[in-house]
Amino acid sequence: MTGSKRVLLAKPRGYCAGVDRAVQTVEEALKLYGAPIYVRKEIVHNKHVVGTLQSKGAIFVEENEEVPEGAIVVFSAHGVAPEVHEQAAARSLKAIDATCPLVTKVHQEARRFAAEDYDILLIGHEGHEEVIGTAGEAPAHIQLVDGPAGVDKVTVRDPSKVVWLSQTTLSVDETLETVARLKTKLPLLMSPPSDDICYATSNRQDAVKAMAPSCDVVLVVGSQNSSNSQRLREVAVDAGANAGYLIDYASEIQEDWLTGATTVGVTSGASVPEELVMEVLDFLAARDFTDVAEITTAQEKLVFSLPQELKRDMKADA
Ligand code: F3S
Repeated sequence: MTGSKRVLLAKPRGYCAGVDRAVQTVEEALKLYGAPIYVRKEIVHNKHVVGTLQSKGAIFVEENEEVPEGAIVVFSAHGVAPEVHEQAAARSLKAIDATCPLVTKVHQEARRFAAEDYDILLIGHEGHEEVIGTAGEAPAHIQLVDGPAGVDKVTVRDPSKVVWLSQTTLSVDETLETVARLKTKLPLLMSPPSDDICYATSNRQDAVKAMAPSCDVVLVVGSQNSSNSQRLREVAVDAGANAGYLIDYASEIQEDWLTGATTVGVTSGASVPEELVMEVLDFLAARDFTDVAEITTAQEKLVFSLPQELKRDMKADA
């Protein structure tokens, strides 16, 4: 074959409103209060973002007890259980909560249904920080359902008083399957008042579904611990790409992945800066993949304002 080879670029891709806000929160906190700023857990699940913030003076810790008394701590976009706020208060930490407002919405739903004494089936991945935070809102009422295979284990007190909620970054299709199985088992199961899987997760999956059938290979830029990025790779393969790979950096692309490929799809998870996608395009262009076309399935305009506690201090400092 002669001539250039093709790249399809999914849109929307990359930063969502919640990640943008969380990263800006740490950056603005560094400017306002000066380094170091402590951040509990990775602010977002992306190696490059974490490394960049570290180089600017952010110190990432696992728990509040690693933060010196009275210091500033930022909570990550994935959300925290109420006890994490209590621990911070007990150590006199100044907490800035960068939890994505769409995760906070799920926390509010969990609190509300627990107060009404519902059993809450939280669909999500065991051990993920978001799930730990949401479950912490009402541990006595919430049980985790980790995908369709988790349905068999579910037991409830009253089958007429059960609701499902979910992690925000799941596979839309797999979650529909989990819910269908739950409804077979529990016909009176209630659904959440509005979608818990967020707009960014479902938009990025839709774009990949539109692109993947035309691709030999799909490259997803994102970190291994990023749930929404992992789902994009799975969705790409399910939608018809011969292969899908998750990479943090262009330098991780193996030449043999491209052997025989004439069309490569590219997308990125919701915590991935666009510069990393551009590096992938440069890598591909150097290998004759120069014909780049964007596959657009939605326009995103959502922006979240910074956490109140930070905005107040920024205003006082102005
Ligand atoms: Fe929020 Fe969804 Fe992004 S929950 S952090 S908008 S992936």
